[in-house]
Amino acid sequence: MDYTHFSFPLNVYAQALCLEEGHFNYLHYGFNLQQGIHQAQQNSTNFIMTKLPPAPADILEVGIGAGTTGSQLVKAGYNYTGVVPDPVQIAYCREKELHLIESRFESLSEETQYDVILFQESAQYIPSKALLQKANALLKPTGRVLILDEITTEVIGGLDQFVKQFDFQIVDKQDFTKEAAPSLGYLIEIIYKHRISLLQDLQLSSLQLSEWLYRLEIRNKAYQDKTFSYLFFQLSH
Ligand SMILES: C[S@@+](CC[C@H](N)C(=O)[O-])C[C@H]1O[C@@H](n2cnc3c(N)ncnc32)[C@H](O)[C@@H]1O
Repeated sequence: MDYTHFSFPLNVYAQALCLEEGHFNYLHYGFNLQQGIHQAQQNSTNFIMTKLPPAPADILEVGIGAGTTGSQLVKAGYNYTGVVPDPVQIAYCREKELHLIESRFESLSEETQYDVILFQESAQYIPSKALLQKANALLKPTGRVLILDEITTEVIGGLDQFVKQFDFQIVDKQDFTKEAAPSLGYLIEIIYKHRISLLQDLQLSSLQLSEWLYRLEIRNKAYQDKTFSYLFFQLSH
């Protein structure tokens, strides 16, 4: 199964990157786009790596994308598990021989506990309360939750409330809006540039792609208006 069958709009991001850059490694924004999108995306993952406890530790990655972070974590000596609801991503990662579970994070069995639960641009798909409730059940007592994602000011308020409810503490918070937001402009630009090929390759309707581009333009404006931010959180008990 190939990445063109990833769920929409992840297939658009992957294919737009392939058309523009020849291949894709990740489905997240990059830090410092002037270094090129591939290096910029790796910069983001390199930052995450600095927030991990020493290997070996048990890491759960929520939302595996192309499995690139998973492969790097295994290479660095971590015990890696990835969870994703999309069977196509699991099939795409088959040759990487990662330990993967097909499930939504919210429905994951609670029989195993982890030192780290990592959300790199996957927290935005999960309501904050459900995310923290499940993380609470899956985290070892000394474990940490790492979240790197775009977030609206409204969601930040909700997150603060549930952090307290589930007895978490925000031990680290950093704002990467300036570093990450240009990635969205780049993404919009390459989707417009390769629009005709994207419609054909992914068998999308023109309306579906136009609506998605419209939503991305609104988000881009929200970054400029500062109602959208790109933040890192580390939570512990
Ligand atoms: C923007 S992609 C990021 C992928 C990867 N973390 C990366 O940085 O390249 C979002 C990921 O979250 C996954 N996802 C969406 N909803 C999810 C859920 N409820 N539980 C687990 N993963 C989910 C998607 O399938 C996808 O793998």
